[in-house]
Amino acid sequence: MDIIRVQGGHALTGGVHVSGAKNSALKLMAATLLAPGVTTLTNVPNISDVHVMGKVLKGLGCTIEVVDEHTLAIDTSGANSWEAPYELVAKMRASTAVMGPLLGRFGRAKIAMPGGCNLGARKIDMHILGLEALGVSFDTSHGYIFADAHEGMSGTMVTLEFASVGATENLIMAAVRAKGTTVIDNAAREPEIVDLANMLNEMGAKIQGAGTPVVEIEGVDELHPVEHRVIGDRIEAGTFIVAGALAADGDGIEVTGFNPHHLGMVLKKMELMGIRLERGVDGVRVWRADRIAPVDIQTLPFPGFPTDMQAQVMVLSAMADGSSVITENIFENRFMFASELVRMGADIRIESHHAIVHGVKSLSGAQVVSPDLRGGAALVVAGLIAEGETDVSAIHHIDRGYERFCDKLVGLGASVERVQVPDLAED
Ligand code: EPU
Repeated sequence: MDIIRVQGGHALTGGVHVSGAKNSALKLMAATLLAPGVTTLTNVPNISDVHVMGKVLKGLGCTIEVVDEHTLAIDTSGANSWEAPYELVAKMRASTAVMGPLLGRFGRAKIAMPGGCNLGARKIDMHILGLEALGVSFDTSHGYIFADAHEGMSGTMVTLEFASVGATENLIMAAVRAKGTTVIDNAAREPEIVDLANMLNEMGAKIQGAGTPVVEIEGVDELHPVEHRVIGDRIEAGTFIVAGALAADGDGIEVTGFNPHHLGMVLKKMELMGIRLERGVDGVRVWRADRIAPVDIQTLPFPGFPTDMQAQVMVLSAMADGSSVITENIFENRFMFASELVRMGADIRIESHHAIVHGVKSLSGAQVVSPDLRGGAALVVAGLIAEGETDVSAIHHIDRGYERFCDKLVGLGASVERVQVPDLAED
C-alpha cells in the first residue's frame, strides 16, 4: 500500500505549473463520441480518472492513441456499443457523462446506476428529468438505466431545480443532436461547462450562453472531430495556492497554467483572510501570511465558492487567528476530512452542514486517512506546516485528480514522498 509521507516545516519556493482540468477533460473525452472520427485533446491530465474514462470509451468501441503524456487522439469512428458497465461507473461516477453523447450518437444508452459515494447520495434525477423532457424514455432494472431515444429527441425548455454541473453537461451533449432548440434554465456556470460548449461549437454545434444561467442549444445533424486544448485545473491551482499561503518562503510561490478568473471567489476569500496575492494572465503569485484572519465561507455553484476547495481552505481557517464558519451546501458528506485534521491538532466542530473552526497556533504530524480526493490533498497540505511527520493513507483518492502531486510539491521544496508500507488491514 502506498502512502504519502510529509515532513513539515520546509519552506516552499519557486513555481508550479498545473495540469489540465480533470472535470473538463472527462466530459470532453465523453463528448468526442458525438463526432465520429479522431478528436485530439491536448493538456489532458495524466490521472487515474482519465484512465477510467479511457476504459469507458474503449469499452464502447473507440480506440485511443496516447500521442504524448498529455495528448490523446480518440478515434470514435468504431464506436459500436452504448453501455457503461458497473465496474467502471462504480470506480468513477463521471462515467455517467457518456449518457448524453450516447443518446446523441446512437439514440440509446445503458448506464450502470451510480449509487451513492463518499460525498453523499449524489442522485442523477435531474439528468433523467431533463432528458425525459427532450423525449428520452427511461427504464431501470438490475442496477442499470436504459435510456431510449431511437425516435429522436426534440428541443424544449428545461428548468433545472438546482444548477447541477453533471445534469447541465449531459443535457447539452444530448441537445446538440436534438431537433430544434433546447433552452436550459438555471444551468450550471462552471468554467468546465464553458470549455465543453467551446469544444462542441468547434465541432459544429450551436450553443449560446454557456457560462450563464440560460444556455440555448440549436440541434444540428452532425458534428465533426477537432483538436482542442483542455483548460487548466483551477482546483489543483487553488490547492497549491493554499499551500503557498501556509508555507511559501519570503518571495512567495508562483502557480501557473490556469485562468485566475476561474478561481475568483477563492482568491477573494483568501484576500479577506489577509493573504497577499498577485494575479497574472495565466496564474497567481502567493505569499505566506504571517497572520491569517478568520472568514466565513459557504460553498455554492460557480461563481460562488467551490465545494472542491472547501477542505483546502479549511486548513487555512484551522490556522487563523480566530473562529470561522464553513458551510457546505453542495454535498451532504464533505466534512469527513475535518475529523482527520482534528487528529493533527485542529479545533473543528461539525454541526450539520456547518464546520465551526477555531484557529490554533500549530498542527502536529499524525497518521491520517484520505477520505476523498480534495480532503486527501488538503491533509497533505496540512502536513507541510505540521510539526514532524504526517502519513496520509488511502492516496488512491488523490491519484484520481492530482497529477504527480508529490513531485510537484517536491519541486517547490517540500519534503514529501510516496512510501510503500504494509497494509495493516490485511493482518
Ligand atoms: N444532484 C442531485 N440530482 C442530480 C444531480 C445532482 O440531487 O440529478 C445533487 C448532487 O447529489 C450534489 C449536488 O446536486 O449534492 C451537486 O451535484 P452536481 O451535479 O453539480 O455535481 P457533479 O456533476 O456530480 C461535479 C464535479 C465535482 C464537483 C461538483 C460541484 C465532475 C466529474 N465532478 O460533480 O467534482 O464537486 O461538480 O462543482 O465534474 C471533485 O473534482 O473532487 C468533484 C467532486
